[in-house]
Amino acid sequence: MIIAIDGPAGSGKSTVARLIASRLNFKYIETGSMYRAVAWKAQQEKIHPDDAEGIAEVARNISLEFQPGPERQKVFVDGEELTPILKTETIGQLAAVVAANRAVREIMVAQQQNMGRNGNVVMDGRDIGTVVFPDADKKFFLIADQKERAQRRHEEMKVKHPEITFEEIYEQLKQRDYEDENREVSPLVPAKDSIRLDTTHMNIDDVVAYMIETIGPVHSQ
Ligand code: DC
Repeated sequence: MIIAIDGPAGSGKSTVARLIASRLNFKYIETGSMYRAVAWKAQQEKIHPDDAEGIAEVARNISLEFQPGPERQKVFVDGEELTPILKTETIGQLAAVVAANRAVREIMVAQQQNMGRNGNVVMDGRDIGTVVFPDADKKFFLIADQKERAQRRHEEMKVKHPEITFEEIYEQLKQRDYEDENREVSPLVPAKDSIRLDTTHMNIDDVVAYMIETIGPVHSQ
């Protein structure tokens, strides 16, 4: 069984995807971290985000590995754990540029399809139900008001970064939505057969409960 969860930044998809995977005992793959890893490595190698071939070369040579973590999935890039660094806003912004690169997307999509080939996986991202697994057994598209999503990000970040204001986060989120929705290759759109869920007024437990009920009984393969 393959469960695809797509949606914009801050819609709660990574949190619910992780919880659902753990409830069903499925593998969880957060594909955003793959674009983030390519962005990080390109930055390390001082390759300009506009150098399409240089960035594609990074994607071709990167080795990515995931392991379940207590709070979020652990990501290893070329054998080194980089989970917290990849989550920073700087890397997120670079990742949005990298994710618009056609060659990078082809390489990442092929890896994602390979990771899901044995089934029983929950994968979240922007194009899982449309491009990576168009035949996924269940597809969800999570949305929430832009202000609510920015508020969630702010709550999450203010402990470690009290200097970052809500307004800054809101502006960054608007910019990311624009880039994700307007890029030429695989823009963020709901798959026609996805279940759309507006989480603006829902808490995580309610979202997870609703999704688990919608998924129905799961048989191990
Ligand atoms: O979900 P995230 O914020 O970690 O994603 C980082 C960037 O990668 C974001 O700009 C969207 C992009 N992305 C994508 O284009 N396709 C995916 N399957 C996952 C993420």
